Amino acid sequence: MAYDSSFQLLGFFCLMISFLQPILLQALAWGPDVPTQGFVSLPFNRSYYHIQKPYDVPEEQRYSFVDGIHKCWVYSTDKPHTTTSQTMPRTEIAIQGYNYSSGVWEFEAYGYVPYGTSSVCIMQVFGASAPHATTLMLGVYNGSLMYYTGPVLVPNIYDKWFKLNVIHDVEAAKVKVYIDGCLKLEADGRGGTSHAFKCGVYAQHNDSFYMESRWKHIQVSRKCRP
Ligand SMILES: *[C@@H]1O[C@H](CO)[C@@H](O)[C@H](O)[C@H]1NC(C)=O
Ligand SMILES: *[C@@H]1O[C@H](CO)[C@@H](O)[C@H](O)[C@H]1NC(C)=O
Ligand SMILES: *[C@@H]1O[C@H](CO)[C@@H](O)[C@H](O)[C@H]1NC(C)=O
Ligand SMILES: *[C@@H]1O[C@H](CO)[C@@H](O)[C@H](O)[C@H]1NC(C)=O
Repeated sequence: MAYDSSFQLLGFFCLMISFLQPILLQALAWGPDVPTQGFVSLPFNRSYYHIQKPYDVPEEQRYSFVDGIHKCWVYSTDKPHTTTSQTMPRTEIAIQGYNYSSGVWEFEAYGYVPYGTSSVCIMQVFGASAPHATTLMLGVYNGSLMYYTGPVLVPNIYDKWFKLNVIHDVEAAKVKVYIDGCLKLEADGRGGTSHAFKCGVYAQHNDSFYMESRWKHIQVSRKCRP
């Protein structure tokens, strides 16, 4: 991971902002924000995603979309998403409609993880070079939001809505993660020729019995080259 000095400075700024945020939010409509210049938001509806869920249960028993909130849940005893898969149980919104191989792409959404959900991946940038399957995994372990199984990006993630922006620059082989508008991580890409965003719950080692995440205002954007 490349932590340059401007990143450290921004990190410090974000730390200050998080202390001052309650005051600032009252006083000013101001704060650091995600660079959105040049990004064009793309249509997002059921035509652009499908739900991966345990193969032997109907979708409505693991996913709901009510009042604009996508809720995904899964149990540690559930089956994989296909009869032939050897992977752990998952209920994920797989955004296959924006399957990309080049350019700069952004996933934005508000996420929520209820207390108790643990050892689970809640968001992925799917696709990488073997032996990796993913460019990014955001996981919840011991109540913290992590890049894979570390480092910690947000120490106490339970029971609150957070804004997530993930920007993947394929040619630069970089991925950036912003939480509530603050840059929390800049990591290297992991190769691959085909990528797609996913969010939901995908069980990992030492998973809790019940896993759930909620998502709203999901938006996929793409940077237009001048
Ligand atoms: C989704 O949006 C696209 C583009 O706006 C539109 O053509 C399509 O009919 C929509 N599909 C659904 C299921 O609403
Ligand atoms: C969660 O906490 C346990 C016990 O403190 C520790 O062994 C484990 O490594 C932690 N998991 C992660 C991913 O940090
Ligand atoms: C993208 O679509 C191609 C063709 O359907 C498929 O082979 C590939 O697995 C997809 N990639 C992702 C990351 O979903
Ligand atoms: C396993 O997960 C539980 C929470 O579900 C946590 O308390 C425990 O520390 C974790 N153990 C390890 C080794 O990560």
